[in-house]
Amino acid sequence: MNLKSYLAARAAKVDAAMDQFLPKAKERPATIHEAMRYAVFAGGKRLRPVLCLAAAEACGGKISKALAPACAVELMHTYSLVHDDLPAMDDDDLRRGRPTCHKVYGEGMAVLCGDALLTEAFIVLTKTPATKRYGAREYVAELARCGGSKQLIGGQVMDLEGESKKLGKRELVRIHEAKTAALLTTSMRLGAMTANASPTQLAALTSFGYHLGLAFQVIDDILDVTQSTEVLGKTAGKDQAVEKTTYPSVIGLNASRKEAAKLTKAAMVALKPLGKKAARLEEIATHMLEREY
Ligand code: IPE
Ligand code: IPE
Ligand code: MG
Ligand code: MG
Ligand code: MG
Repeated sequence: MNLKSYLAARAAKVDAAMDQFLPKAKERPATIHEAMRYAVFAGGKRLRPVLCLAAAEACGGKISKALAPACAVELMHTYSLVHDDLPAMDDDDLRRGRPTCHKVYGEGMAVLCGDALLTEAFIVLTKTPATKRYGAREYVAELARCGGSKQLIGGQVMDLEGESKKLGKRELVRIHEAKTAALLTTSMRLGAMTANASPTQLAALTSFGYHLGLAFQVIDDILDVTQSTEVLGKTAGKDQAVEKTTYPSVIGLNASRKEAAKLTKAAMVALKPLGKKAARLEEIATHMLEREY
């Protein structure tokens, strides 16, 4: 199957599973469940869950066993976007090509919607089957650590505090590691764990996720400068408007592109111990480097 069809088929599988996992829109109190579904089914790229499923396969596992953690990482990601867009944070009106959650449901409901999506992520995660090496304890610890104040939230804190400040490359890397690379790494790790990954396999996919995650945010920063709002489905030029420290603002566009390519290469190198089973991951990494939105 070519990559385009593969990505579409996997995204559809994840969407169908999330539709099953999430409370129905009519379930009371209906507003929150409608808001959760509005944010989730707005049409994201689903790269984190796709990576989670591909990680399971790269370790010889079945995707059916990795569907719950794949949905859990997408729910955590979607919560982070709902909160990231709030007026108190990045103050964005557009997300995934639609008005942001708070524009439709109000700020209070968007705060609660994010909270509910984050909580739901753990409910869904508990449906992951245990393997010889890993069970509920390892799965929950993995996702919680990644979403906590030292990783995703910590990164958002540093990102907010960094507005209008001149940060160096070192600090910028720390922000990207925490706010973005951590969840991509965890997506890989959880998928691998459902396949009872060996320590070698898990280490390889951890390194792949880390480098790919860093590259991913460099590209997000580049696209914010170079791409249109229509194509992105979110407001272009936003980072400069609020003086965020980004790769383009610190090292310029050309050097940022080189950095993204270098990080993607490092991600590919990390896959070596997995041999031929990692072919799809390599393809996905190239696609992520070349993406236009
Ligand atoms: C956007 O993530 C936020 C970042 C961490 C850069 P994505 O570009 O994966 O957003 P969706 O899920 O496709 O909307
Ligand atoms: C988002 O970073 C990171 C998280 C949501 C954790 P950005 O603020 O750059 O994401 P976009 O550009 O709004 O999607
Ligand atoms: Mg932000
Ligand atoms: Mg933002
Ligand atoms: Mg951005």
